[in-house]
Parts: sequence; C-alpha cells; structure tokens
Amino acid sequence: MKINLLSRSAADWNTPLLVVFAADMADAKDPSIPPMLLTTHPSLQAAAAPWLASGEFKAGLGETFLLPAPTGLQARRLLLVGVGKTAKLSAHELRQGAGVAVRYARPRSLRDLALALPEHPSLATAPALRAMAEGAIIADFDIDFYRADRKDLGMETVSILVSGVDAADASLQTAVREGSILAESQNFARTLINEPGNILTPTELGRRAAAMAAEFGLACEVHSTEKLRELGMGAFMAVAQGSSQPPALIVLRYEPESAPSPDAPVIGLVGKGITFDTGGISIKPAENMDRMKYDMAGAASMIAAMRAIVQLKPAVRVLAVICSCENMPDGSAYKPGDVVTAMSGKTIEIINTDAEGRLVLADGLHYAQTLGATCLLNAATLTGAIGTALGQINAGLFSNDDATAQQFLDALAVTGEKFWRMPCTDDYREQIKSQIADIMNTGGSRFAGATAAAMFLKEFVGDTPPIPWIHLDIAATTWLDDQKPWQSRGPSGIAIRTITEWVRSYAS
Ligand code: BES
Ligand code: ZN
Ligand code: ZN
Repeated sequence: MKINLLSRSAADWNTPLLVVFAADMADAKDPSIPPMLLTTHPSLQAAAAPWLASGEFKAGLGETFLLPAPTGLQARRLLLVGVGKTAKLSAHELRQGAGVAVRYARPRSLRDLALALPEHPSLATAPALRAMAEGAIIADFDIDFYRADRKDLGMETVSILVSGVDAADASLQTAVREGSILAESQNFARTLINEPGNILTPTELGRRAAAMAAEFGLACEVHSTEKLRELGMGAFMAVAQGSSQPPALIVLRYEPESAPSPDAPVIGLVGKGITFDTGGISIKPAENMDRMKYDMAGAASMIAAMRAIVQLKPAVRVLAVICSCENMPDGSAYKPGDVVTAMSGKTIEIINTDAEGRLVLADGLHYAQTLGATCLLNAATLTGAIGTALGQINAGLFSNDDATAQQFLDALAVTGEKFWRMPCTDDYREQIKSQIADIMNTGGSRFAGATAAAMFLKEFVGDTPPIPWIHLDIAATTWLDDQKPWQSRGPSGIAIRTITEWVRSYAS
C-alpha cells in the first residue's frame, strides 16, 4: 500500500472514496448539539450538513456514514468517520479513524481512498499524519492467508489531502514515512505470528529473520543446537530437546552510521520464540491449544522492531537475541524434577515444563549481556496470569529500574499502546526459591504468577554493575479474539512501535 501526502482540496479530488472525520460535540449540558465535521471546506460542509443535523450519525469512535455521489464534490463517495468526543480528540483517535476507513474500503473492493487531514486545535499536524499513516497500514491486514478464495485484498493507495499546510514540508513527509515504516514492521510481525506451527518452525523463523536482515542491511547470524551446547545454554537446550525440530538462536545487530552519544547504552532486545507450546510433559489441555502457535510473538516483535530501527536509523547501538524452539512432550523431553544449568551458571529445578518461556529467555538475557548489551528489554507471551491481572486491555511491564521503565511509559504517549507497570521487587523472590537448586521455574505459590515469572527473569539480569531491564508480558494482548472497526482479529502486533520509539529516545 502506498501513502501519498498531497496539498489538494478535498472537494476537487477525484477518488472512489473520500473520507472526512467528524467529532461528537455533545456534552452533558446539551446532548442535542450535532457532530462537527473536522474540515471547514464549504462544499464538504454543505454535503454533510443534512446528515449531521438528522441525528442518524453521532460521530462515535469507529462509526461510519456513507453518502453516495455527493453533490459539489469530485469524489464518487463521501464517507464520514466518527472519532468520538471532541474534548478527547488526539492523534490516537485519528489512527483508529484512518483504520476504520481502510477496513470500510477493503471488503467493498475499493482499492484507493483519500483521507482529508482534520482541522482541530488539539491536533498537531506531524503527529496526526504519522498516526493516520500507521492506522491505515495496520488496518490493511487480515489473517486468511491460507484461503483459496481470499477476496479481501489490500489497498493500493491512500492519499492524505492537506490544506493550509505545505505537503512538501520535509517534517510532514517524514511523519508519514516514519508512520509507514513502523506500521509495515508491525504487519511484518503479525504475518509471522499468524503462521501455523508446522510452517513457521524455529528454522523457518531464522530464515525469515535472515531474509529481512539481508533486505535492510542488518547483520544476522542464525545458530542451532551445536552453538547452544558450546555456549552452555542448558536452560534453552532443556526446552528444545523434546522436539525433532532443531532450535534457532538468532542474533541481529544494528550499528548506527552516526556515532551514538557517549552515554547511550547498547540496547539488547531479547525475544521468546516458542513456535509451538504444547506445555511439554506438563501438557496443556486440548481446548485452545492451537493458539500456542503465537507463543513466538515476543520474538516476532523484536525482529520487527529491528526492521523498523534499521530504517529509522537512530544513533544508538542495538542487538537482538531471539531464542526459538518448540516445547514438545517426547521420550527425550525435559521433565518436572530435572535440574538444568543455565548459561549464567545458575541451576534451575524444573517444576512445570509449561513454564518454558522463562527458561529460554534466561539464556537469551545472559547471552545478550555477553554480546555487550548494557540495557535490556525482553518481550514474551509469558504467563496466562498477566491476563488475569490486566485483561486484554493493558500488557504488563516489569522493570528493575524506574527511569528506564518511565522512558518506556513515556513512549506510549506517542504510540497509543497500553502497558501497565507491575511489581517485581525482591519481596516476591520467595516464590522461586528451590530446595535443591538455586531457583525453580515455578511452583512456589498460585498467586502473582506474572510477577513470579518476572522474578525468575530478573535472576539473569546482571546487578554488578546493575543492568537496567524491562520485561514485557504480552501473553493476553498479542491475539485479538474479536475484530475492531480499525483492526482485524488475530495477531495485534503489540509492542513493536513502542519498543522502537523507546530505542529512539536513547539517541537524542
Ligand atoms: N505460553 C504460555 C503463556 C500463555 C498463556 C501465552 C496464554 C498466551 C496465552 C506459557 O509458556 C505458559 O504456559 N505459562 C504457564 C506458566 C505456569 C506453568 C507457571 C501459564 O501461564 O499457565
Ligand atoms: Zn508454556
Ligand atoms: Zn509458552
């Protein structure tokens, strides 16, 4: 999909579908005030006025209203898209609004549309444009890749029409370009996450990462069993040993062209890449087990963030370590009661083989530090418990460092994603104490399961010197069960845009 930013009057633009946003003006005192069209152009105002006044369209977020063959316009159809209450209007609602427009067009085989940039005092132009580009591209995705009769094909062009500002302005073109890079990377991850386990094996994930790296000029290495043994990755190897598919240890490196600032950290991104999680010997119930193909979403997020980073070129060094394998029951599988030695030297008593993500991440986090990372971020579909705590609205954020956590939370204001900070203070360490080894992988308590997993990971983050670290638990937010007006059901691609924004914040 191509996004064009043009200085054109929306009234004179010839398009199959012209999209104009409208906001809900109603307040508690006078709910009868009609919605406001977010463009002052007289012929658009005239075309929409009767329908705004009739009360049929209330401009709620995601609401649409179609006017076929509107008089006074070149466009063949005019689509009003609601962005909700005017008082709450921000770039985030425009991201969703642009998505609604695309998801209106796609099933109707309208391959081109134009969005009129809204005029509103609370909207700064560049962030609004970036958000609209993101929303349009995120919406241009569906999960039915393997259907022979796939009809709902992608958009060809989305034109954003601006008036009163110069579309040739470099900062505005950059905003559209950055939004496109971020959203295309998000869709790249969603494609990986959507792939079934028989197709996206660890080896295939390695191939896809290497192909992406070759396309964009990232350094990439893909290792397997021999290297894991050589590095002493006993925790990662324990999980991998029950599968006939070999594991993949993927390393991606981004070296900036311009020198990083002297106090900038070397960022290490670590991803959980379980391409299918049966639970292993502690096997999962059959119901919904098919979903465990998405247990590699953390890995996909990191590969996708690297894809965005290499194009946005921040002056900061970034490396990514992806630990990918299957978690299978087998004669050679690891078992409850086994004791394994992680790469860091810590011994781990296995209580439940379904708590496998923390094991592969333990070795990934340690390895990233040996490669030079001085600041760590990992993402993982780690625990069902994070959904119990936060539902499917917020993903969980855990950190050992307030400033680093805050820097990530600040990036959310730009991306519109939702993460909630959860505790992982040493009070909770009791839960992972083992009778016979340094720690155990689960089992201390049925409470605070997501924090227990975070406490386990924290054991593998250096404290002398202290390494700032963030753990993102995206288990409950990585797959949308129901479609939204602006987004398909299926893989959400959460975290990629915020991780990238957070990485960029170290370059300035
Ligand atoms: N991959 C799962 C977590 C998960 C659950 C992801 C639901 C997505 C949706 C993880 O490996 C797991 O099985 N965790 C266990 C941990 C338990 C055994 C301590 C869990 O959450 O039940
Ligand atoms: Zn599991
Ligand atoms: Zn898992």
